[in-house]
Amino acid sequence: MIRVVILGSTGSIGRSALELVSRHPERFEIVALVANRRVDVLEQQVARFRPGTAILCDEAVPLPASAGGTRWASGRTAMLDVVAREDVDVVVNALVGAAGLAPTVAALEAGSRLALANKESLVAGGSIVLEAARRGGGEIVPIDSEHSAILQCLEGHGRDALHRVVLTASGGPFRGRSPRALTQVSAVDALRHPTWDMGAKITIDSATLANKALEVIEAHFLFGLSYDRIDAVVHPQSIIHSFVEFVDGSVLAQLGFPTMELPILYALNYPVRVADDALRTYDPVRASPLTFEEIDHAAFPMFGLGVEAGRRSGCAPAVYNAGNEIAVQAFLEDRIRFPDIADVVAEAIERVGVSGIHHMDDVIAADEAARVVATEVAKRLGERKGMAS
Ligand SMILES: NC(=O)c1ccc[n+]([C@@H]2O[C@H](COP(=O)([O-])OP(=O)(O)OC[C@H]3O[C@@H](n4cnc5c(N)ncnc54)[C@H](OP(=O)(O)O)[C@@H]3O)[C@@H](O)[C@H]2O)c1
Repeated sequence: MIRVVILGSTGSIGRSALELVSRHPERFEIVALVANRRVDVLEQQVARFRPGTAILCDEAVPLPASAGGTRWASGRTAMLDVVAREDVDVVVNALVGAAGLAPTVAALEAGSRLALANKESLVAGGSIVLEAARRGGGEIVPIDSEHSAILQCLEGHGRDALHRVVLTASGGPFRGRSPRALTQVSAVDALRHPTWDMGAKITIDSATLANKALEVIEAHFLFGLSYDRIDAVVHPQSIIHSFVEFVDGSVLAQLGFPTMELPILYALNYPVRVADDALRTYDPVRASPLTFEEIDHAAFPMFGLGVEAGRRSGCAPAVYNAGNEIAVQAFLEDRIRFPDIADVVAEAIERVGVSGIHHMDDVIAADEAARVVATEVAKRLGERKGMAS
């Protein structure tokens, strides 16, 4: 039995992971489920999967009575304790945002396998995360479909055979729109993703293409590639999840209909492949045609800003990420316009500056400084939006 902890079990990735677990009861045992505040959803999951521990990170939310052998706890310390337990084989980190950094580090320091959906933790604290894995002996297996695709294409090859990767991007709901047209789009429009069904934050990140920049930085840390060797291309059908080019010029790609269940199943069982009849079989004719386009940098400046932050290294990716989290929330609450997201993040990067990262505290300080600046800029841009409407 593989003993699993799921962080963010009430979210989109967390629920998909639990569906997979329910279809393979002979392989998995749920040790603990962790959410932030949606106690009703977590209670239903606890009744169905009967984990030993259930945790709500938000201490302001009252806990239900412990029942059926499940011990309820609250707070981030309880979460960090559970990921570090010796009887855990795999920690699925499906939290959203930089809140995922501390449990990512704790799981790797404890020597566990980390099935990582929470890309923000690698982006914000890449060098700290890799150091935690080296120290503790833990390993990262990515859940993000693009990085799962790269890992699958690399099977049987040494890293020195790898020359370049090309990540694919759906282009989001606003593909083909002009910068001018994007001043008029709403959060409701942005939440209608053409190919993927995901949580709100990553859906907005897909619409701005910030998600692809976060993934470029994630690939840099996961596969040890310089930024010159990581490209991204728009592929609206979301069938090819990444290309891997080897030193001899040969290119492999991993394909499949867009569902996160496949990369989650792969990460949970890695390196073993497990059959799952519920997954949709790939059909090249129904998936046809497969098309590719350049990223439109004028319409989607968040992509270039993010890659540039990655190249600047140090705390720049943490600042980019934190500024983006604040800006996305402001856009979701209709306080700023869609193009303001990039303006908030650009000003946060400029004003916070770039310092080095030697310790987790450096990441936390950069993250906090970026949130202060981004909140102030979002407020200013929000007032301008209010006056214009
Ligand atoms: N969804 C996808 O298809 C997909 C694909 C690739 C990568 N990812 C990545 O996977 C991660 C999760 O995405 P998602 O779409 O599943 O997000 P989601 O649906 O918004 O779920 C987020 C989960 O994290 C919990 N959470 C939120 N803030 C928290 C905090 N401060 N402390 C502790 N728990 C917190 C939520 O708990 P409550 O429900 O209690 O609020 C929920 O369980 C993100 O990093 C995303 O980029 C997602």
